[in-house]
Amino acid sequence: MGYYWAVGVQAIRGRLSKEVGERTKEVRREVGGSSATSCRRKRHGEDLVDVLLRLQHSSELNFVITSDVIKIMFTAVIDFSQELFSAGVETSSTTAEWVISELIKNPQLMSKAQAVVRRMLKGRIQETDIQGLNYLKNIVKETLRLHPPIPLMPGEAREECTIRGYRIPQKIRVVMNLSMLGRDPNYWSDPESFKHERFEESGIDIRGGSFEYIPFGSGRRICPGMNFGLRSIELPLV
Ligand code: HEM
Repeated sequence: MGYYWAVGVQAIRGRLSKEVGERTKEVRREVGGSSATSCRRKRHGEDLVDVLLRLQHSSELNFVITSDVIKIMFTAVIDFSQELFSAGVETSSTTAEWVISELIKNPQLMSKAQAVVRRMLKGRIQETDIQGLNYLKNIVKETLRLHPPIPLMPGEAREECTIRGYRIPQKIRVVMNLSMLGRDPNYWSDPESFKHERFEESGIDIRGGSFEYIPFGSGRRICPGMNFGLRSIELPLV
């Protein structure tokens, strides 16, 4: 499954960068002032750039949108979308592959997970069905403990502190090792074993409230795609 998934993602990525490339050329032509209405606009309707170009030539706004502003906005939107795409797709697909890998290593767990899913879901799967699948959710959580897709998380020390005798100055760049944190015997019993049951009634918070378990980070910069990421792992697994 992991292989087909990876091939699928590569294909989407290829298509996406082709589309982006074509649209970028179009934007350059359109913003550069060549004959306005493109065939693409007729086919697909207005997009963000078309709206900006329309506003540029209308008197609806009391400020000027220059061609440079449109080019910069387009580039920023594309950069941001690509960043979101890589932040979101790699992390979710890597985690799903690790789940499958753990289940293959443990056939009993695989059979139980399949049985639970089949018992609970009848027929076509809806996103809301996932809510009740705590068994599967705990398997995903345990996978994220052992195999966080972002194992080294960068940050900055907000204030000076001392950790195990080392002085950490304020504002210094730090890298948190989420992989080691998830396997620290001070916080986890039998840390190297895959035990999804540990999440059953432990109250460990995946949303950054339990500092020994922060696969999505914590605080103000916590991953904004957490819910979407978890759904993107759970739904294909189901
Ligand atoms: C299993 C899935 C995912 C994991 C484990 C994950 C993990 C993380 C982590 C550890 C961070 C750093 C947080 C911090 O510095 O405190 C982060 C940031 C981020 N993630 Fe995710 N992520 C996942 C899925 C996604 C998805 C699906 C999206 C978007 C569609 C996304 C978008 C982002 C963005 C934009 C940031 C930067 C946030 C900022 O700097 O303010 N992630 N993610």
